[in-house]
Amino acid sequence: MKKITINASRKYDVITGPGLISQAGQLIRTALSDNAKTVCIVSDDNVSPLYRAPLKKSLTEAGFKVVSFIFPHGEPNKSLSTVSHLMEFLAGKQLTRSDALIALGGGITGDLTGFAAASYLRGVRFIQIPTTLLAAVDSSVGGKTGVNLKAGKNLAGAFWQPSLVLFDTDTIKTLPYSILLDGAAEAIKAGMIADRNLLDYIMQADSLTDPEVFTTLSDRAIRIKQAVVEADERDTGARQLLNLGHTIGHAIEKCSNFEITHGHAVAMGMAIIARAAKNLNWSREDCLSPLLAVLNKYKFPLDCPYSAAQLAEAALKDKKRTGDTITLVIPVAPGDCRLTQIPVEKLETFIQKGLA
Ligand code: GLY
Repeated sequence: MKKITINASRKYDVITGPGLISQAGQLIRTALSDNAKTVCIVSDDNVSPLYRAPLKKSLTEAGFKVVSFIFPHGEPNKSLSTVSHLMEFLAGKQLTRSDALIALGGGITGDLTGFAAASYLRGVRFIQIPTTLLAAVDSSVGGKTGVNLKAGKNLAGAFWQPSLVLFDTDTIKTLPYSILLDGAAEAIKAGMIADRNLLDYIMQADSLTDPEVFTTLSDRAIRIKQAVVEADERDTGARQLLNLGHTIGHAIEKCSNFEITHGHAVAMGMAIIARAAKNLNWSREDCLSPLLAVLNKYKFPLDCPYSAAQLAEAALKDKKRTGDTITLVIPVAPGDCRLTQIPVEKLETFIQKGLA
């Protein structure tokens, strides 16, 4: 079992290891350390049949009354409508400020549960139990919560830190390989922004499904995230480095109507930005070759089916735009990125350089 403590506006542990769902009741009881009586498990219809029963048993044994809110899986359901149904459900079950929500699932579940927790009764506590590698290494840690609007991803949300994150590494066993790859893309991103050795480790790893590999990989990626979140919890500076590949990646997801999943879109976005940075001589060292080597090793599709104009239009609706400029994360060396602002009207030309 590995434990990392995040020192943000709320201090909490991120615990990683096998068998944690069946120990969750006691761990959550300790983390909440007071009078929480009722907890609400929030999960989608894919994950609920896999893990809700053992989680509920463990919570009941720890003395909690357990209620459950199950919603249909998929990006279109990461919406204000689902959050509204969830909050009405919580009110109907009379959850109070001392009670808590438990997000059991991937990034969609974690983000929307966190947003409901931030809003219900003006804020109740919540616990993240990520069941995908992507949620474990990125979205469950750091307190960014939210839902999509028609105009783009994550356009409504709140900073609201969880009280505990439990990553039960046994959940990887039920994860389809392409979803595991979505998480690997975020770990590669963490390596690109802050840890060249992590990139080398992923490059040399025999198999992502080896428990030692994904435990090491998630531990190192979470430590990178810890440092960034502790330095800039509210995303006004250094935390924006975590958006490497995301501005274009979100545009790719949106253009594909979310057929291209988040990690795969981020992988494409990173390749586009690294190629543009190389073509414009903005990198100090070659970032493109090591990035392409690791992405090709895991067979990420990298041919972007959209034009620079389509991507720029979709990206400019993204929340990362500030007035007339947009902030890009530019890889300057493997393990080192910089934030660069460019005028919005130059984005299409920049992306074109990355597609060439
Ligand atoms: N996923 C990016 C962040 O947490 O800031």
